[in-house]
Amino acid sequence: MPRKIAAGNWKMNGMQSTLSELRTLEDKHGDADIAILICPPFTLICACEDTPFDIGGQDCHTAKTGAHTGDISAEMLADAGASYVLLGHSERRTDHGETDALVAAKAQAAYDAGLIAVICLGETLDERENGTTLEVIDRQLAHSVPATADALNTVIAYEPVWAIGTGKVPTTDQIAEVHAHLRERLQDRFSDGAEVSLLYGGSVKGSNAAEIFAVPHVNGALVGGASLTAEAFSPIIAALE
Ligand code: G3P
Repeated sequence: MPRKIAAGNWKMNGMQSTLSELRTLEDKHGDADIAILICPPFTLICACEDTPFDIGGQDCHTAKTGAHTGDISAEMLADAGASYVLLGHSERRTDHGETDALVAAKAQAAYDAGLIAVICLGETLDERENGTTLEVIDRQLAHSVPATADALNTVIAYEPVWAIGTGKVPTTDQIAEVHAHLRERLQDRFSDGAEVSLLYGGSVKGSNAAEIFAVPHVNGALVGGASLTAEAFSPIIAALE
């Protein structure tokens, strides 16, 4: 059975006030029997080292060390206490021109450092509207996920770009179609493809989490805005438990 994961992507947010929200969340869900993953900005990872939750980075470089100003290696993330790393988020694909091949190389660097890669993929509104969503998903899955991936070192996050931060959420039928397609493709390609956790991300809130989690092959959520406060993130976690 794929592990259930409630993941919070703090993006370029997160101050001391957010850390106090994390402590409140720990009080409520510190003994949860699902995985709770917090992905703060790198500057806050060390401040989270004593949390009972899993910690993840939001990106990593392909190299272990070197002259890469402003970048962070997977080894540095692991050394700081992270066990996961988000890769290929649409905001990085857009803001930094990240290609499928670069995401796959970063995933291999994550595996080499002992990190679990959460590989993000999803279509734009134009691709959704012109009916090429599954083709886009196939391309990203084929070229962003290395052959060395398995259910222990990889999680896939389906995040339709047009649902991120917009309050717009695909219908449950649309989510079901993509997640079933992802599961089929993963089982075709990997011996343990049935065990890979598939997360949905894009405007997940306490009000819609339960119906999203009821969709087959949805094993959790990758949450942005609603992960920044205990009040908003707790109902999502509770809906998954
Ligand atoms: O990585 C999760 C994020 O992209 C979703 O953001 O604010 O729509 O939950 P949000």
